[in-house]
Amino acid sequence: MLADAAILSQELLKPGFFRLVLSAPELARRCQPGQFVQVRVSDGIDPLLPRPISIHGFDGEQGTLSLLYHVAGQGTGKLSRLAAGASLKVWGPLGRGWVMPDHLTKTSSLRDVDNRIRGSEDLVGGPEDIQTDAPGDAGKILPLFVAGGIGVAPLPPLAKAWRDLGAEAILLYGARSADQTVTADEFAAMGVDVRIATEDGSAGVTGRVTELLKGLHTGDKLPLLYACGPKPMLKAVAQLADERGWPCQVSLEERMCCGLGACLSCVCKKKADDGKDGGKGWTHAKVCTDGPVFWSREVVW
Ligand code: FES
Repeated sequence: MLADAAILSQELLKPGFFRLVLSAPELARRCQPGQFVQVRVSDGIDPLLPRPISIHGFDGEQGTLSLLYHVAGQGTGKLSRLAAGASLKVWGPLGRGWVMPDHLTKTSSLRDVDNRIRGSEDLVGGPEDIQTDAPGDAGKILPLFVAGGIGVAPLPPLAKAWRDLGAEAILLYGARSADQTVTADEFAAMGVDVRIATEDGSAGVTGRVTELLKGLHTGDKLPLLYACGPKPMLKAVAQLADERGWPCQVSLEERMCCGLGACLSCVCKKKADDGKDGGKGWTHAKVCTDGPVFWSREVVW
């Protein structure tokens, strides 16, 4: 849907990182974690195209929507200069978001979830013996959020959902430096164990987030990964998850024009499972409508 959204607040979190809170009641009621919106920054041609931005939070009762973004160009630069009281055109919610914990607790196993949602036993899957019928079974799963830079943006609604199930979650958060980590304290306030890696060593351990992942001790729990960040990071996370048999969802970031499945500017390669691929073994998928969230084993990296 298209909404005229009033800006309630615009907060500078760290240089270049902003959180925008919008009043958009109907849109907020429809949001699912992991979806995104297209924000039209200008009524004119500068910039012409809307900007895709992850939904960072939503409150259907309050009718609010929050977006966390990093200034990366002209459009987001212009967006960052808007103040409370201004209004924006916002399309959304768009795309398919995270497979949420309530899906897991209503189905018999993680593999069942994989098969039901993605339809291919060969491409996806997790240990079949993880039963998640009862609410208490959330304790068998280790929700593991892996974020790179602004990739942290679509994760808070997931953290809230898992917290409500009583799960102990971990956030592995990688960035170039401390001044590129935002909202880590808010995850900690939700009871998430936050572990940071920075390339320059200015916060957490020195190195990349994949080093944190490699060194993770999971005990007898099954890590269930949710990753968002730059594609090389996602590829490395997906590879590690695959090697260890950990179910992993990734939220892909691609350039988008329409956000509605019409322009094909966002296509990625997805393993084919329907016999319509002409023997290639892969087919095209649109990140804006088939994603942005995919099971990591679906993606041709
Ligand atoms: Fe146009 Fe995906 S952005 S098809």
